[in-house]
Amino acid sequence: MEKIIVSGGNSLIGEIEISGMKNSAVGVLFATILVEGKCIIENLPPIDDVYTTVSILKAMGAVIVWNGKNSLEIDTTNIIPCSSPDEYASKMRASYYVLGAELGRFGRSYTAKPGGCNIGQRLIDRHVKGFEALGAIVTENSANINAVAPGGLVGTNIFMDDISVGATINIMLAAVKAKGNTTIDNAAREPHVVDVANFLNACGAEISGAGTDMIKIKGVDNLTGVTYAIVPDMIEAGTYMIAGALKVGNRIKVTNVIPKHLESISAKLIEMGINVEEGDDYVTVSRTGPLKPINVKTLPYPSFPTDMNSQICILLALADGTSRIIEGVWDGRFKYTEELIRMGADIKVNGRTAIVTGVPKLYGARVRACDLRAGAALVLAAAAAEGVSEIDDIHHIKRGYDKMEKKLCAVGVDIKVVDIPDLYELHGVESESYCDRKVQK
Ligand code: EPU
Repeated sequence: MEKIIVSGGNSLIGEIEISGMKNSAVGVLFATILVEGKCIIENLPPIDDVYTTVSILKAMGAVIVWNGKNSLEIDTTNIIPCSSPDEYASKMRASYYVLGAELGRFGRSYTAKPGGCNIGQRLIDRHVKGFEALGAIVTENSANINAVAPGGLVGTNIFMDDISVGATINIMLAAVKAKGNTTIDNAAREPHVVDVANFLNACGAEISGAGTDMIKIKGVDNLTGVTYAIVPDMIEAGTYMIAGALKVGNRIKVTNVIPKHLESISAKLIEMGINVEEGDDYVTVSRTGPLKPINVKTLPYPSFPTDMNSQICILLALADGTSRIIEGVWDGRFKYTEELIRMGADIKVNGRTAIVTGVPKLYGARVRACDLRAGAALVLAAAAAEGVSEIDDIHHIKRGYDKMEKKLCAVGVDIKVVDIPDLYELHGVESESYCDRKVQK
């Protein structure tokens, strides 16, 4: 078990290079199921969700060769349908893409229910509704999902009742090789929806309108292998932009980004009185004065992202006055506020609204990363706080941030990852599983 220890209060100055986008990388990797032939996927972030995805694809029969840490060659020609292993599939949310991709290629799919961060109800009814509209029969129990399309998938017009990133990508995956034309109306517009569509188009798909609320897909017979690079991660970039504003005198240049993807984040930082300079592929964030309180509402792209809810809260917790965060996507996103309160923050949560009254200082404390983005936010809070903080459960952070401690250390954060020894190891006894012990009794 590992934890992060941060001694806070340092000035942060320097450059941080952004890795490939987690939510795009997992989408593109699962999309390779639709391709018969070899693909080379580049700019992959070396994070646990990517390794879990690779493990699922390998166990299904994909031939994968890594070319260094950020690129791999994948051949899914001989993949076996309905063979996605439960223990990996239930570890992450994006494993639901097996359904759309396998339905698209084989007309059938079977997988464990997806896992992922505990940030609210994580239904897949919009995915299922889309698959059914394309002609699939979907059955579910509490653990698994089974989908079959005995007559093959046939293109149709799908209106999404509410915006869903995952359902938009999953329906796109299923429809790419369906007979005829499909439209997805009220589609999600996130950059990772566009990235997956661009990858599929490079392989020979005919998708137009990705990035707007109306995606049109003309079914094709075959997709062929290509070399494709994942776009930079806008949430990783946003997280380090916050680091540039934690203290007066901080200045962080966040490089290898697409500034357009960061507009809603930049706008909120500017509203708080923070300086944001944009270049072609970088943004520099610096702070020269106090933080103004603001109101933030999280909504689907291009609005302010829900995945930045907890990180912006660190700045609001240190602002001169009272701010509000209204969470418009997930119904359980504010669990992290309890940890932040342990560090001295003044936050009251009422349903989907958090009222954050700024305090002059946060103080080091022992806190728990309750989900991926919350974990990253607590590291930022620890970097701003007076004293030493310990952040437990950092496996959440490792699911989505590439070498967070190294990137932050390079700009001045006093941060280290330490291994907490397993209790059995500490006492010199061999660890036994609970089952083994029961059997021995
Ligand atoms: N929803 C339904 N039914 C569905 C699908 C979604 O009710 O069938 C609801 C959800 O409960 C939620 C809302 O719709 O309230 C939005 O969910 P969406 O489907 O857009 O989320 P997702 O695809 O499961 C992706 C990201 C999340 C990110 C959200 C919103 C991936 C793998 N995950 O999740 O990322 O928060 O979009 O932008 O792409 C993260 O990276 O930390 C993360 C949680």
